[in-house]
Amino acid sequence: MTAVGIDAIEIWTGKLKLDLPNTFAEKKGEDPEKYTKGLGLENSSFPDVYEDIVTMGANAAKRLMDRKGLTPQDIGRIDVATESSFDNSKPVSTYIAGCLEQVYDGNFHHANKGERKFACVAGTQSIDDAYNWIKAGRNRGRSAIVVATDTALYERGDPGEATQGAGAVAMLISEEPSVVELSTEQGYGSADETDFLKPNQQFPSVDGKRSMQVYLARMREALEDFESVAGKTHPDDFAYIPFHTPFPGMVRKAGLLGYRHMIRDTDVEDELAAEIGRQPREAEFDNWDNYEEAVRAYMDDLKDTEQYRDWYGRVIDPALSLARQVGNWYTGSVHVARTSALKHAAETGRDFTGERLLVGSYGSGAQAEIHAETVREGWKEEIEQLNVDEKLENRYDLSFEEYELVHDVHDHEKETDVEEFTAPSGEFVFSGWGRMGERNYEYVE
Ligand code: HMG
Repeated sequence: MTAVGIDAIEIWTGKLKLDLPNTFAEKKGEDPEKYTKGLGLENSSFPDVYEDIVTMGANAAKRLMDRKGLTPQDIGRIDVATESSFDNSKPVSTYIAGCLEQVYDGNFHHANKGERKFACVAGTQSIDDAYNWIKAGRNRGRSAIVVATDTALYERGDPGEATQGAGAVAMLISEEPSVVELSTEQGYGSADETDFLKPNQQFPSVDGKRSMQVYLARMREALEDFESVAGKTHPDDFAYIPFHTPFPGMVRKAGLLGYRHMIRDTDVEDELAAEIGRQPREAEFDNWDNYEEAVRAYMDDLKDTEQYRDWYGRVIDPALSLARQVGNWYTGSVHVARTSALKHAAETGRDFTGERLLVGSYGSGAQAEIHAETVREGWKEEIEQLNVDEKLENRYDLSFEEYELVHDVHDHEKETDVEEFTAPSGEFVFSGWGRMGERNYEYVE
C-alpha cells in the first residue's frame, strides 16, 4: 500500500517579536518568571505592517515549492486552516494561490481550494482531508499543500495577551512522503463547549481557566479513543509527543495527564506509587470540577519523580523549543511542535527513521485529535533545510509602545498608519485594498 503523509514542512514567522519577561512583564509590573517559568514563554512573534495570514502562508508555501522544485501543475489541492480569516465567503487559499501565480509559470485552475475552521485543530483536519483525498485515489498523482496560518491576537489587557503569536506552517502532503507517514490510528474527544470563541468578532472571548480544563478533558478522551483503535499505549512507544501548544505550561499539564493515562495498570504505576507514597484514585480523574484539588495533587507528586522527569525531558520538552520563542500560532501550533521535535532529533544526531510520534492536536469549542505517525527515511534532509532559527534571530525587537502600535495596525476595527519596522525582501506583501473590499498582494524582489 502506498504510504501517504507529510513530504515537506516550511515555517514562516511574523517578522517582529515582543520580549515577554523583559519588555512585556516590565510594563505590566509583573514577575518575569510568570512568563518564563509559569507560562513557559520567552518571546511572541508578530506580523510587520505589510504581513498578514495570506503573506505568511504564501511565503511559507513558496519556500516549500521552491525547495521541492514544484510547479502549480504538481498541486491538486490547497487547503488553508485559519481562525483569523477576514472574509466569510472567499477563502484565504484563493488569495494564497493568487500570490503564488504571480511568481510561477502556470496556475492552480484545476486545484481544489478551501478553508477549514475548527479553532486550532483545523490544521490537522486539513492534513486529514488531504490524506483522504490521496488515499481515495482522486489526486491524479498530484500533492496537496496545507497551510495553517494565524495572527493569534487577543484584546489588549486580556490574560491571553501574554500568549499571542503570528506565523504560518506550510506542509506538502504526498504519496511516498519524506518526513512522516500518517496512518489510520486516530482518536477524537469532541464536545460542544463555550470556552474560547469569536462570534463575529476579531478578538476571542475567552474563559481562560476553563479552556485549560476543557483542553485536558478532550485530550484524555481522544487518547482513550485512540487506544480503542491502536491498543493500549505505553510511554516508551513514542519517540516524541508533540501537543498543541497555546503556551508550554499547558503542555506540562497535558504531558502529565498523558503519562498518567499510559502508565495506569502497569508496573510503572506501582513503582511510582511506592515512590510518592500514594496510589491515584481513579475517581479523581473523572471529576473535572475536582481537577484543581485532586488531580493536580497527584500530578504534582508525579512530576517530581525521576522517572517522569526523564521521560518528559526526552519525549515532551524537545517539542516546545520553537513555541517558547513564538507564542501560540493557533492552527499552526501543533505543527510547530512536531517541527521542534524533528529539529531536536536532527541537532542531536539521532536517527529515528521508523520510530513513531504521537501527535495531540486541539481546538477550542472543543475537539482534541490524537494520531500516530511513523518517521520516514528522508526526514533529516528535509528538516535540515529549514531556516527557522535564522528567521527567529532576525526578528525586529519591539518596544512596548511599538508593540501597541503593531497591535492597532492588525486590529480590524482601527485605522492606523504606521511605518514598517523591517524591509521586505524576496517575499509577498500586503499592497492595499481593492474596490470590492478585497486585499491585494504583490511580490517584492
Ligand atoms: P493568568 O491568569 O494571567 O496566569 O492566565 P496565571 O496566574 O494562571 O499564571 C499562569 C501560570 O504561571 C500558573 O501556572 C502560575 O502558577 C504560574 P499553573 O499554576 O497553572 O501551573 N505563575 C508563576 N510561576 C513562576 N513564577 C511566578 C508566577 N506567577 C504565576 N512569579 C491563562 C493564564 C492561560 C488563563 C491566560 O493566559 C489565557 O487566558 N490564555 C488564553 C487561553 C488559553 O491559551 N487556553 C489554553 C487552553 S485552550 C487552547 O489551547 C486553545 C487555543 O489555542 C485556541 C484555539 O483552539 O483556537 C487558546
